[in-house]
Amino acid sequence: MLQPWSPTSWKSFPVSQQPTYPEPHALEEVLKQLRLLPPLVTSWEVDRLTSSIAEAQRGESWLLQGGDCAETFEQCQTEPIASKLKLLLQMSLAIVFGSRKRIIRVGRMAGQYAKPRSSDMETQGATTLPCYRGDIVNRYEFQESSRRPDPVLLLRGYERSALTLNFIRALSEGGFADLHHPENWNLLFVSQAKGEVAERYKELLKSLGNSISFLETILRDSAPELRRVDFFTSHEALHLDYESAFTRPSIRGIGYYNLGTHFPWLGERTRQVNGAHVEYFRGIRNPIAVKVSGSIQKEELIDLIDRLNPDNKPGRLTLIHRVGRSKVETLLPPLIEAVAKANRTVLWVCDPMHGNTVSTAGGRKTRRFDDIVDELKLSFAIHRACGSMLGGAHLELTGEDVTECVGGAGGLTESDLESAYQTQLDPRLNYEQSLEIAFEISNQLSQQRI
Ligand code: PEP
Ligand code: CO
Repeated sequence: MLQPWSPTSWKSFPVSQQPTYPEPHALEEVLKQLRLLPPLVTSWEVDRLTSSIAEAQRGESWLLQGGDCAETFEQCQTEPIASKLKLLLQMSLAIVFGSRKRIIRVGRMAGQYAKPRSSDMETQGATTLPCYRGDIVNRYEFQESSRRPDPVLLLRGYERSALTLNFIRALSEGGFADLHHPENWNLLFVSQAKGEVAERYKELLKSLGNSISFLETILRDSAPELRRVDFFTSHEALHLDYESAFTRPSIRGIGYYNLGTHFPWLGERTRQVNGAHVEYFRGIRNPIAVKVSGSIQKEELIDLIDRLNPDNKPGRLTLIHRVGRSKVETLLPPLIEAVAKANRTVLWVCDPMHGNTVSTAGGRKTRRFDDIVDELKLSFAIHRACGSMLGGAHLELTGEDVTECVGGAGGLTESDLESAYQTQLDPRLNYEQSLEIAFEISNQLSQQRI
């Protein structure tokens, strides 16, 4: 029998991936402050996202979730934030054209600061230090003082999240997000863009202009939906002290919400059914996602679903599979079949990034564009063959012109990786590669309509 849930009931469960703070009192002081600070989102917004995800589960909309592997405090700047938003808007436009479905846009943004690591310590030469766990925990530089977990960074992370979200909200509400002016979404470095992907996007803008004038002629006026967009935030809810500081009772008296983000997800490394993270997630009312690799067993998956969504509520649970190109055909179908057989309602989303990370001979972490596209395409086909439906994509991307993943229309090679490799953690799709993926998704979804 499970004991009653509270925002801190996870503390009596085995917990993994948490930093060890050298001064627990200092941590407690910071948490006290965080508990008093205003939330970043509201329960009404969160409920609206739950309804949208329920729509996606019925096949009426499609989820596009993307952003950096880890946000950094340094990159909390105008251009990187605006570029990511522009890119996600351009991608959703490409997808809506093929799918004729509403797109739910979710950024890995405004709080994606804590990272799970495969080992607690890192050794360079003769020195061993705690590993880097994201800007909200410690600093990247390989020095003892930098790697020491510092609770003040939790406050800095909250503030950066608030600054990011404030900017996103302002941009989404009008003017910038107005579909009549998609030229606002052009990225500075691609204004002269040539090549196949850029041409396709320009064609799409032309049809968009025509469709809007057609619609407005019929309506005699502009629909307000064309002038603003919905944009939601998400991050891996890894740092449980931080997450519980933002877990607040709803003023409507309907339970607890994580008001630090709209859509928290549970990572592959922390999804143990009897672990602290699952205990935390089961009690919040947000829509939640769980990352699953091919290593999860069918029974384990159903137990996890039952723990997280015992009443099988629509919109509540998204499963993000990240199996890898080479294993998806064998390992994904049994999972889909198990969920269908158990009659559980989930939204299936494909993360074609995390199962496809490889190292180059030079020691760079990269991902091959073709593996990413193949895993996505195979996932569409596998869901179709199993009588299920792929309802979204989860991508690591940036609007910057980086060289971190190899391949794509730009033909990036391993030797190109050196020219603009900026990520401290996982390699991201750049602008052109992301847009190319969006066209592929659009293509897949348009075939589903036939
Ligand atoms: C991530 O999304 O950056 C991540 C660590 O993913 P996963 O939990 O799927 O490994
Ligand atoms: Co990652």
